[in-house]
This record gives sequence, C-alpha cells and structure tokens, in this order.
Amino acid sequence: MSEPNDTVRDKFNRPIRDLRISVIDRCNFRCPYCMPAENFPEHYAFLPRSAWLSHEEIDRLTRLFVANGVNKVRLTGGEPLLRPDLAELVRNLAKIDGIDDLALTTNGVLLEKQIPALSEAGLHRVNVSIDSLDDDVFRKMSGGRNSRSVVVAGIRAAQAAGLIVKLNVVVQRGVNDHTLISLLRAFRGSGVIVRFIEFMDVGTLNGWEMAHVVPARELVERIDSEWPLRSLEENYRGEVAKRYEFADGGGEIGFITSVTDPFCGSCGRARLSAEGKLYTCLFATEGLDLRTPLRDGASDDELAEILTSRWTQRDDRYSEQRVPAKISRRRKVEMYHIGG
Ligand code: GTP
Ligand code: 5AD
Ligand code: SF4
Ligand code: SF4
Repeated sequence: MSEPNDTVRDKFNRPIRDLRISVIDRCNFRCPYCMPAENFPEHYAFLPRSAWLSHEEIDRLTRLFVANGVNKVRLTGGEPLLRPDLAELVRNLAKIDGIDDLALTTNGVLLEKQIPALSEAGLHRVNVSIDSLDDDVFRKMSGGRNSRSVVVAGIRAAQAAGLIVKLNVVVQRGVNDHTLISLLRAFRGSGVIVRFIEFMDVGTLNGWEMAHVVPARELVERIDSEWPLRSLEENYRGEVAKRYEFADGGGEIGFITSVTDPFCGSCGRARLSAEGKLYTCLFATEGLDLRTPLRDGASDDELAEILTSRWTQRDDRYSEQRVPAKISRRRKVEMYHIGG
C-alpha cells in the first residue's frame, strides 16, 4: 500500500487510515442486534433524501480525508445498495489518487443485480453479512426479511465478477452458534473469507449482554477440532480481524474480537454518517457536523482544518475500557447510522 500524507495524528498517535462512509440510514433488513423491527416499523422516519450528503459532497470530503492520511474507503449503510446510483459514487471515488482499497459492506440482497455496475465502476471488494445458512435462523437474524438463497446468489455473483469477498457473521450464543460449522462447510475452499464477529454492545437497542457473546477463542477451539487451524500474520497494522487458515488448504477465516480482545490501540477508523457527521468511534455519542460548513461555502482548507482538529483531539478507545458487567446505557450512535 502507498504511504499517504501523514499529517494528522490523534492523542494516541494514531493516524486516520480508514474512512467508512454511510451512504443511507435505511435498510431492507431488521436484524434484532442492529435495527429491531419493534423500534423501526415500515413508516419509521429515516433521514429525508435532502439530508443525505450528495455524491459531490461525499467526493469532496473523501478527497480531504485522503489528503490527511486515509488510504482505505468503505461504503456502508444501513444498506448501501438502497442508495440510488451507488455505482456512480463508486466510479467517482475510484478515481481518487491515494485510495488503495475501495470496499463495500452489504447484506447482499441487491448484490446480484448491482454487481456488474459496481465492479465496472471500480469497486475492489465486498463484505457480505450472512449470519446463518439455516433458513429459520437466517430469518430470525434478518428480522424475517428475505432469504439466505438470495444473499448466497449475491456472494457468488461478486466472486464471479472477480471481487474479493469476505463474509461477516455476527455470532450470538443460543441463536446461531450451532449453525457455524455448517456455514463453514459450505464456504471452505471457495475462496470466500468467513469472519465471525463477536456480538457487540453498539447502539442502545439490542439488549446486549455478555452472556450472548461467544468469545472468539471458544470458536477457534470448536473449529480447530473439526478442521485444524493455523494463525496468520496481520495484513496491515490495525487489521480488525484476527486471521487463521485451515491447515488442509481450505482457505482463510477471521475472528473479530471487539469484546474479548479489543483492537483500539491501532484504530485509524473515521466514520461519516449519511447526513455528514464525523464519528471517531463506533461507540461515540456525538458526531461532528461537516455538512453545515460544507453547505455554507467553507473552503477546502477550512473543511480540512475542521476535520483535522477533531482528529487531533481524538482519544477514543471504548472497547478497551468496556466493563461487560457494567455496560453503560449512555446514549451511543446506532450501528445503522454509521454502518459498523
Ligand atoms: P476488512 O477486513 O478490511 O475487510 O474490513 P473490516 O473488517 O473493517 O470490514 P467490515 O466493515 O465488514 O467490518 C466487520 C465488522 O468489524 C463489523 O461488525 C464492524 O462493526 C466491526 N468493526 C469494524 N471496525 C471496527 C472498529 O473500529 N471497532 C469495533 N469495535 N468494531 C469494528
Ligand atoms: N455486533 C456485532 N456486529 C454487528 N453488526 C451489526 N450490529 C452488530 C452488533 N451489535 C455487523 C453487521 C455487519 C457489520 C457491518 O456489522 O452484521 O456485518
Ligand atoms: Fe441492516 Fe446491516 Fe443493520 Fe442488519 S446489521 S439491520 S443488514 S444495517
Ligand atoms: Fe476504534 Fe472505537 Fe472500535 Fe476502539 S472501539 S477499535 S477506538 S472504533
């Protein structure tokens, strides 16, 4: 990867490396751990379209982040494929010098249809959320929306188009943990990288308890007894997933251990919400409004000053400070606002 301009560091000397852009706060799923259906009925007042940053505004802000250290960009939601003309945004971002990695995180339902345009526009890779291949468990975890076969078709289409594909599997004890081995059996050897994510206390609505978390080390043991595993080196400093490979050549898998082994020390992730607020942690309470100065005519230098001075003050390390027995019910941004 190229070495970007290293001008800005936070209070723990962490550069901004990874910009995660939420392009829409709506979703066609109602995963109970993110957007529980009882809190988000059909007529829920999501952001109006006029509140979304336009493609041009996203493009302009992204260039400023890149000038200040970012070299990875990920598009998220809600569900990003619900945003009209997402491929056009991808096409613009793909032209920015200094972005080495341009990715998308999606629930996969609309992927099969959109993958040709996204791939042609210059998307490098895609992370697809799929929590189980068991129909009933899948529907329980998607809030009764859609079916796993549609998502699997999206995954296959992305692979066929030559994109690198990773799967995100949120693990909840007693909900889907009995279906993980069969999920691995289906994807082992296919080139798709499955990652298991410890259920996190993001937002305020998912009733998180430590008892629902399956620690990654327990999963590693379970999987290792089925197929022996070997641990792998980090691809880059601050990588979210701990990587392993199947010793028999079945490919790579990963574990995202935000609860039992946090990775704040090297976290260079900035999150931009659909309405243009900058969040410096997944568990932040407040975001910094960039849209108002943007629409009030701020110059590039002024906008860069606003975002770099916020980054300079950053001291977030929520996951390292979390005490599971004493989870605060303080206000936290919801996952669907900043896309994880
Ligand atoms: P790649 O490995 O580069 O593909 O990126 P990634 O792992 O960041 O991809 P993705 O956005 O799909 O994230 C996977 C999961 O890791 C999601 O559940 C994220 O919420 C979680 N995650 C990503 N970044 C962070 C972070 O900074 N803090 C915490 N606590 N969790 C994160
Ligand atoms: N804990 C862990 N992962 C979560 N995701 C959403 N909410 C949570 C949570 N509470 C995952 C989604 C998606 C990724 C962006 O974050 O399933 O794969
Ligand atoms: Fe939608 Fe993703 Fe949230 Fe599920 S986790 S409700 S797919 S935004
Ligand atoms: Fe980064 Fe906050 Fe996640 Fe820690 S908890 S890794 S600081 S986003």
